[in-house]
Amino acid sequence: MTLTFTQGGSAYDITIERGSLNQVSGYFNLQRKVLVVTGEGVPRQYAATVLAACPEGLLLTIPEGEENKTLTSVETILSELLRLGFTRYDALIAVGGGVVGDTAGFAAACYMRGIDWYNVPTTLLSQADSSVGGKTGVNLHGVKNIVGAFRQPSGVLIDTAVLDTLPPRLFAEGLAEIIKMAATSDAALFRRLEQAGDLSPVMEDILTAALRIKIAVVEADPTERGLRAVLNFGHTIGHALEAAVGSGSAPPLYHGEAVAVGMLYMAEGEARTRIEKLLKKYGLPTEDPFSADELMQFAASDKKRRGNKIKLVRVDEIGSFRFQEAGPDELRTIIQSRKK
Ligand SMILES: NC(=O)c1ccc[n+]([C@@H]2O[C@H](COP(=O)([O-])OP(=O)(O)OC[C@H]3O[C@@H](n4cnc5c(N)ncnc54)[C@H](O)[C@@H]3O)[C@@H](O)[C@H]2O)c1
Ligand SMILES: [Zn+2]
Repeated sequence: MTLTFTQGGSAYDITIERGSLNQVSGYFNLQRKVLVVTGEGVPRQYAATVLAACPEGLLLTIPEGEENKTLTSVETILSELLRLGFTRYDALIAVGGGVVGDTAGFAAACYMRGIDWYNVPTTLLSQADSSVGGKTGVNLHGVKNIVGAFRQPSGVLIDTAVLDTLPPRLFAEGLAEIIKMAATSDAALFRRLEQAGDLSPVMEDILTAALRIKIAVVEADPTERGLRAVLNFGHTIGHALEAAVGSGSAPPLYHGEAVAVGMLYMAEGEARTRIEKLLKKYGLPTEDPFSADELMQFAASDKKRRGNKIKLVRVDEIGSFRFQEAGPDELRTIIQSRKK
């Protein structure tokens, strides 16, 4: 399946197909110098397959983890592009999870004020979440994604076969973002996830449905002024949980796991029950060890905050949502109602 993402007069294709990596030359223009950037933890074969399809391909492996999503890594890529004599007509391909994609995409945005780049996301989270929207960037002094640029890729290739090597916990956290999109915007996808047995044969369909939601939302709100906030369902408390975990002794939570727990605070009634059941089905957490006071303390520093109010996404019924502008007291009440 190929979806097209259009923004500001330009468009690119996102192909979702099992085994497509073996036909990469049919999707990307490889008849030029190509730097294939991958991460140390990404199984070698994926970048090797891409490289083998590039007549003038070169490989660069960068260190991974959030702590390496830095300007130093960007400089490593830029130095390599310069050393290898890349021109503005050449291209870069990111093969890896969101860390590789965001870092390499940002380097592509900067080199000669922007060269073509393609994205081959290899984690479920990056396939479902970072393939649309053109956000690239890195962290600085521990502040996430504070330096970056919008640079749309020239194409995205999602080969669901790469998920076969993904550790189950990473698979589950990617699924949390898909559950998030289904809960607010696609009751049929939600039902499908409830009913599914083995996901692997239906992964292309599930990703296609999730990406359709993200494309529709981002196309409708390119400047992030309104509707796009729906993608933050579960993220206000999710970010607070990540911060609380980072500052204390609680066991680490992956981003998608924090979002999973965060969604339950923002859902009501039957919707909450169904989300909780689905999260459990896929091995995602549904509880956290923090008090309402602790969560309030960390939620207050949410960067999406405007003045005193936070724009919350609430789900009362699966497949629909409403926005709620909440002050600190309202947020506390919401948190406490879940703690009971
Ligand atoms: N640009 C966007 O719109 C956007 C959206 C969401 C998240 N992000 C960013 O994405 C990052 C998180 O991305 P992530 O969750 O993909 O994590 P990640 O890039 O850190 O990858 C997680 C781990 O999985 C390994 N890995 C990757 N593919 C694999 C495979 N197929 N098999 C086995 N192991 C594999 C990696 O080596 C890494 O160790 C964050 O920095 C976040 O800010 C960006
Ligand atoms: Zn997220």
